[in-house]
Amino acid sequence: MAETRLLAAGKCLLLFVCLVLLSVTRTDGLYAPITYVTSGVSKGAVCLDGSPPAYNFDKGYGTGINNWLVQLEGGGWCNNVTSCLARKNTRLGSSKQMGNQLAFSGIMSNRREFNPDFYNWNRVKIRYCDGSSFTGDVEAVDPATNLHFRGARVWLAVIEELLAKGMRNAENALLSGCSAGGLATIMHCDSFRALLPMGTKVKCLSDAGYFINVKDIAGAAHIQAYFSQVVSLHGSAKNLPLSCTGSLSPSLCFFPQNVIQQVRTPVFLLNAAYDYWQIRNILAPADADPSGSWNACKLDISNCSPLQIKTMQAFRMQFLKTLMSKSGNSTARGLYIDSCYAHCQTEFQETWYMADSPVLGRTKIATAVGEWFFDRSPFAKIDCPYPCNPTCHNTASGGGGGTSPEQPDKGSAATVAAAARLPLLLALISIWAIMNLL
Ligand SMILES: *[C@@H]1O[C@H](CO)[C@@H](O)[C@H](O)[C@H]1NC(C)=O
Ligand SMILES: *[C@@H]1O[C@H](CO)[C@@H](O)[C@H](O)[C@H]1NC(C)=O
Repeated sequence: MAETRLLAAGKCLLLFVCLVLLSVTRTDGLYAPITYVTSGVSKGAVCLDGSPPAYNFDKGYGTGINNWLVQLEGGGWCNNVTSCLARKNTRLGSSKQMGNQLAFSGIMSNRREFNPDFYNWNRVKIRYCDGSSFTGDVEAVDPATNLHFRGARVWLAVIEELLAKGMRNAENALLSGCSAGGLATIMHCDSFRALLPMGTKVKCLSDAGYFINVKDIAGAAHIQAYFSQVVSLHGSAKNLPLSCTGSLSPSLCFFPQNVIQQVRTPVFLLNAAYDYWQIRNILAPADADPSGSWNACKLDISNCSPLQIKTMQAFRMQFLKTLMSKSGNSTARGLYIDSCYAHCQTEFQETWYMADSPVLGRTKIATAVGEWFFDRSPFAKIDCPYPCNPTCHNTASGGGGGTSPEQPDKGSAATVAAAARLPLLLALISIWAIMNLL
C-alpha cells in the first residue's frame, strides 16, 4: 500500500518535472502568432492578391515593455506582371499563404543570451506581400490579373495598427529589416520617425539593404533597369523620399545611395561587402552570364576562380566607394561592413549572436547594434578584404537553393532548438512509460 502511494507520488513528481522542462525548453524556439490587419482592407491596404496585410508579434516584458522593434520582412521584388503573378499565390504575395506562426530568432529572439539588447522589447515582423519594398500605390486593379500594387498603404496600415496597440507610447523604437526589407527601412526611416512622438528615441537598422547601382559583368545596367521596372509597375515614385525625387528620376531613388545622405534619423548600415544577393543578381545576373560560368561561384565563394575573386574584389571597392561618398560621416551613422559571403545577418542566430558568430574588430553584430542604439559607443568599421576574416560563416550555400536566394531559412534556429529538446522529451516519456508499467 505504502509502496503504491510512493510510486504514485513519484509519478506525480515526474509529471511535474516534465511539464516544467517542457515549458522552459519551449522558449528555445519562439513561434510568434500572426495577426491580420483587416482594418486596412477598406483603405485599400492589401497584398498582391487583395488579402489583408499581416504581422507576427511577440509582446515586450520587464524593462522592454515600452520599447518596439519593427522588422520588415524581405523577399526580393516583382518587376512585371509575370513575376508578380508568380508570387501572388505564395506567402510573398498573399497573407492566406503565410501560416499562423513564424519562428523568431536572432534580433527577434526573446532570450537575453541570444539577443542581449532587444530580447524583452515588443518585437514585430511586418510581413512582406507587395513586391515593392512597401513603396507601391496604384489605385487601379486590372480585373484580368487581380494584382494589387499597394505596398505603401500596407506599410501605413500596419504602423497605424501598431501605434494603436501601444507603440504610440514607445520610449525606444528601432525600425529594421533585411534585404528588400532593409531597403524599405532606409526609404521609410524618416516617415517612421515622424509617426512616433517627439520624445521617442528612434533609429533604423538596414540589414543587407544597401543595393548599389553598378553595371554587371557584361557591362549592362541590369539592376538599374530592374529597379526602374519595379518603381514604374508599382507606382512607387510618390512614396520614395522627396529629398531624392525632387532632383533625380524616381527609379534612381530606389537606390539607397541616392537617399541615405538626406535621411535625418540615425541609420545603422549592416552589409556584407560580398553580399551574395548582390553578387548573384547585380554583379553576375543570369542575363550577363549565359554560359553559367558563375553558377558554382555564386553558390559558394570557395568555388570562385581567381579571376572571379578579382571581379568580386573590384565589386567590393565599388561598394565601399559608394558607401563612403554617399553615406556621410557622423557618429549617428552606424556601419558594419564585414567581408563575409552573406546576405541578411540580423535574423539568423548564427550571425547575430552566438559563441562563434562573425566579429569585426572583435565585435559581434548584436553588440555593435546594441551599443550604437543606446549611444553607449558608436560603431563604424569596414572589414579587411576576403578571405581575411576567419570568423565568417559564408552562409551562401545554406540559403542558396531554390529560386529566391534572398529568402533566408527563417526556421533554422528554431528547428535546431526544437531538435535539441527532442531527446530530452523522449527520455522523459520513456521513464514515464516504464514507471506506469511498474
Ligand atoms: C519579367 O521580369 C523577369 C525578371 O524578373 C524577366 O525574366 C521576364 O522576362 C520579364 N517578363 C516580361 C514579360 O517582360
Ligand atoms: C570620419 O571622420 C573621422 C574624423 O573626422 C575619421 O577619423 C574617420 O575615419 C571618418 N570615418 C569614415 C568612415 O570615413
